[in-house]
Order: sequence, then C-alpha cells, then structure tokens
Amino acid sequence: MMADQENENKRGEIIAVSSAKGGVGKTIIATNLALALKKKNVEVALIDGEFQFGDIGLALDIQPSFTIKDLSEEIDRIDEHNVTNYMTRHESGVHVLSAPDRPEFAELITTEVIQKSLQALTKNFDYIVVDAGHGIKDSTIDFIEAADRVIAVTTLEVSSLKNTKLLIETIHQLELQDKLNLVVNRYNMESLIKPDEVPSMLRISEADYIPNNFKMAAQSMNLGIPLVTSRTKSDISKSIFKMAEGIISNQGGSRLGNKPSIIGKMFSKK
Ligand SMILES: Nc1ncnc2c1ncn2[C@@H]1O[C@H](COP(=O)(O)OP(=O)(O)O)[C@@H](O)[C@H]1O
Ligand SMILES: [Mg+2]
Repeated sequence: MMADQENENKRGEIIAVSSAKGGVGKTIIATNLALALKKKNVEVALIDGEFQFGDIGLALDIQPSFTIKDLSEEIDRIDEHNVTNYMTRHESGVHVLSAPDRPEFAELITTEVIQKSLQALTKNFDYIVVDAGHGIKDSTIDFIEAADRVIAVTTLEVSSLKNTKLLIETIHQLELQDKLNLVVNRYNMESLIKPDEVPSMLRISEADYIPNNFKMAAQSMNLGIPLVTSRTKSDISKSIFKMAEGIISNQGGSRLGNKPSIIGKMFSKK
C-alpha cells in the first residue's frame, strides 16, 4: 500500500529541523510540521534524530515497538519495502521512525544507517521531516547534507542567536546554504533584540516566526497531543500551518544574501 508501485521514481522531500542549542523548540516544530503536512493529503514520515534523548515519543504519546536501533541491526537488508516495518503509525497517519530507547545506543546509528534509511523512506513518503538534533555532531551533519530543506530554529536569546550564527556559518562552509530556512521561535518573548532584526543578523533574507505561548506548548508536550491537532486555531498552530503551506507550494530556500544591518554587522564581527 505504502510503497508507490506505480511510480518507481517517487522521491520525497527531506526536511531537517536543526538548531545550535537544545531547548529552542525543535521537537515541537518538527512534530507539528509533520502533522500539519499530513493534513494536506500527502504521506509523511517523521524521524526522531535526537538519538540520545529523543522526545518525539513523548510529544506524540506513542510507544514504539521498534526503533532505528532495530533497523540498524538489519541495515544490510533494509530497503523501501521493509523500512516502514520499523516505524510506528501515529493516529494522524504520520509514520514515526523513533530514536533508540537508551542513550548509549545512539552511537550505533552510523552515517550508513542514516543514509540508507532516508533513501528507503524517500521512496515511500512525500515528506520526511527529521528532528535532526542540536549542535554539530556527525548525525546532524548527515541529516543536513541529505536534506532538501534545512530549518534552523533559534529563539531571541543572545546565546541562541550567537550559536545559531555559528551553525549557519558551518552550513555555509559545507556550501549547503541554498537550502537553509530560518525559524524564529517564541518571537514575541521579551527580548532586547527585535524579531525582525534576526534574519539580517544571521544574513538570511527571510524567516518564519512562531509565537511564544509557554502554557500551551508545555501542556501539549505533557499530554502528547500536538497543537495542530488539539488547538488548530491557536497562534502557534496557525504559524505552523503557514510553514506547511510554504513547503507544499515549494517556497523558501535560497533566502540568503541580504546585506547585514548594523546589528548584523555587530554579530558578524570575527
Ligand atoms: N512557541 C513556543 N512557545 C512557548 N514555549 C515553547 C515554544 N516552543 C517550544 N517551547 C517550549 O520550549 C521547551 C523546549 O521545546 P522543545 O521542542 O523540546 O525544544 P528542543 O527540541 O529544541 O530541545 C519546551 O518546554 C517547550 O514547551
Ligand atoms: Mg527536542
């Protein structure tokens, strides 16, 4: 049913949601984005790429029978026909490839496992959303390199902005900047830095903005029910649906190139 027999060349779009630091909203964004895309009548996979301490099981209230660790043990036999056996179907219809259930298993998930999994998944799904984990570790780079679209998530906190700048510089060094999108999460939180200053600060021409609503975000995580399901009219959900629209209509990417503002220059000082 899932493997598209009619179209051998079917190839899904890989969207890697990354960040410099943890705690900026990657898991919430990846999870809600996957569910928002699913509502568009497309097939969606969600990979928990935070291999040590993956939270997607919590965010979606699912108990996986298998994880990417099980898949890694059979890596020589993995193909588009059996990859979905290792996934958990969420009631939304999104298929989840879960993170290992213990942190020490994270190191078993090699570049080969990541590449083969993605290759097999792109044959089954229209969109593969990855919570690519934070920082610049091997697995994050593997996801960023394989992705068609990389979403870098930041907040307005100075440390988040400083480190996002370094992450973006690394993405430039890898010459992957053309697929980079910026998301400013919790953009209306109290901060000395104005949200609309952030793109130029990070030398990106545009960003998507997600509002701050701590109570709603925390409650959704506690219940394991994403906001795009339970609170479709909430401000957070609206901005996630807008992101999904942009992805479906294939906007974004190549958003770099704006001249940095004064503050941007301040931040770009070597
Ligand atoms: N838009 C938001 N408004 C308010 N709180 C948020 C928002 N996005 C995320 N949070 C909160 O920030 C914390 C980290 O979010 P999470 O998605 O787990 O981040 P990450 O995956 O980057 O570590 C959680 O407590 C979450 O409820
Ligand atoms: Mg997370």
